[in-house]
Amino acid sequence: MARYGLIGRSLGHSRSPELFADLFAREGVSGAHYDLFELEAVEGLPALIAAHPDLRGLNVTIPYKQTVIPFLHALSTEASAVGAVNSIRITGDRWTGHNTDIEGFRALLAPHLRSLIDQGGEVRPRALVLGSGGSSRAVAYALREHGLRFRVVSRSRDRGDLTWDQVDRTVIGVCRLIINTTPLGMWPTVEEVPPLPYASLTERHHLIDLVYNPEETLFLRRGREAGAVVENGLVMLRRQAEAAWRFWGEG
Ligand SMILES: NC(=O)c1ccc[n+]([C@@H]2O[C@H](COP(=O)([O-])OP(=O)(O)OC[C@H]3O[C@@H](n4cnc5c(N)ncnc54)[C@H](OP(=O)(O)O)[C@@H]3O)[C@@H](O)[C@H]2O)c1
Repeated sequence: MARYGLIGRSLGHSRSPELFADLFAREGVSGAHYDLFELEAVEGLPALIAAHPDLRGLNVTIPYKQTVIPFLHALSTEASAVGAVNSIRITGDRWTGHNTDIEGFRALLAPHLRSLIDQGGEVRPRALVLGSGGSSRAVAYALREHGLRFRVVSRSRDRGDLTWDQVDRTVIGVCRLIINTTPLGMWPTVEEVPPLPYASLTERHHLIDLVYNPEETLFLRRGREAGAVVENGLVMLRRQAEAAWRFWGEG
């Protein structure tokens, strides 16, 4: 039997087990299990792997995507570039980190870019990335691949280009692609919303929320009500899981 799973601190929101159950069924994989492993601290990783000798691969979520790196023996090019790991391949004593959020976000971004570029022939729409954590870095990596200019909004002046109080109607007017990489609005705190001047949104804006639970966050609802094109993180979730599955198989 081969075991896979997800590590993170609080995993009640995770849809990964059903996602991987579907994937195993589609690929005709029998005898594979996907479990949720809540860890109080990332230091618990070696003991977890030791306790489950059948573990072949792990996904990593909040808050361990960066802090897990010192425990790994090798990193893929993408994981090194982004400085965050969301998938670990376990081959005997060798644990290799990779970042499949990049591939997942590429898939989520592609149709929005096509549509933004079609709108009035604007070749390089500007983007606003909300939050500066692990997934924000994967988003930034994918935006750079397209040569897109973007600004990162953070609670700290040190981690972003703008703080929240600086995001005014001028910034919103310039940035027609807005990507939420914060957990604001994620179940169970569904009443939370990134503090933006939503009244400045138009039907020419595209709002992407990496959060997928609930399917429509308050951020996306405010965008939809302003006429913007909106999408949650489900496509990304599926694509990053498929990429993780391929990565685990490459060992
Ligand atoms: N759809 C998918 O496949 C997918 C993939 C990855 C992540 N996600 C989702 O994306 C979200 C972020 O994940 P992550 O791994 O990037 O988490 P993370 O590393 O903890 O980063 C989240 C960032 O959001 C900002 N933030 C956190 N709490 C905030 C608050 N109360 N107010 C304002 N900003 C806050 C912080 O940036 P500052 O410190 O700079 O303010 C933080 O670094 C989660 O909801 C996760 O489920 C979805």
